[in-house]
Amino acid sequence: MKGIILAGGTGTRLLPLTAITSKQLLPVYDRPMIFYPLNTLISAGIKDILIIVAPNHSGNYLNLLGSMFRKFGVNISFIVQKEPRGLAEAYLLAEDFLDDQPSTLVLGDNVFEDDFTEAIQSFQGGGRVFAKEVPDPERFGVVEFDADQKVLSIEEKPVAPKSHFAIPGIYIFDAEAVAVAKKLAPSERGELEITDLQRHYLKQGNLDVRMVSGAWFDTGTHEALFEAGAYAKEKKLGERFHPMINEAIAIFNQEFKKSVSLK
Ligand code: G1P
Repeated sequence: MKGIILAGGTGTRLLPLTAITSKQLLPVYDRPMIFYPLNTLISAGIKDILIIVAPNHSGNYLNLLGSMFRKFGVNISFIVQKEPRGLAEAYLLAEDFLDDQPSTLVLGDNVFEDDFTEAIQSFQGGGRVFAKEVPDPERFGVVEFDADQKVLSIEEKPVAPKSHFAIPGIYIFDAEAVAVAKKLAPSERGELEITDLQRHYLKQGNLDVRMVSGAWFDTGTHEALFEAGAYAKEKKLGERFHPMINEAIAIFNQEFKKSVSLK
């Protein structure tokens, strides 16, 4: 199982914050946001992670994460996405990296309280996505269930949502996702939609949908980013990260302080 973090995009809704750094490096209380998806993947034992970044702030990612996990046997690679063309493009950009392996893709701006280790480690094939009941499903991909929790439909940002279940930004797919993504046509808003990829697996009878427990934030707005930070502080989410991540951060901080005091 390989891991992908999509941290591209321009983050215009968060200007002027995103004029000076990448959205996914903004603080969620005491940790840059990118550590949340990293925590999800590393906690599940994934050792090979590709981070897809926008051109403007790619150097910041290298400075922070370029060698942070090497001594822990976790290999982090980067690829630049010149222009965002939709979430499913992640599978096209990651084709060589994936090398016909299954993957877990996490959106760099999604903050989860839940632990996905079991869902990732027990994955056998097909696709596995998640659902979370929200008051404003029209902002997200939406999944509709029948009375037996069987999936009836999946729609991207529907004007009239058929349920209150949003599909958060974590997706587990087998190696076929690359071939499926290659065949997708852009949607009306001009994007390769991750929900179209999910619908392909649904049609094949190969899509499994599980519930997310705990809080979930899509931090694309100032308000949501602030709420995620406040929640992370209250629940000490950072302290609950996989110990290896917090150790890597502590070593990074020490080395940083040393390099500053030498000058
Ligand atoms: C994207 C996906 C949507 C998903 C959401 C989760 O939306 O297209 O299906 O529910 O992420 O954060 P976007 O971030 O492009 O608005």
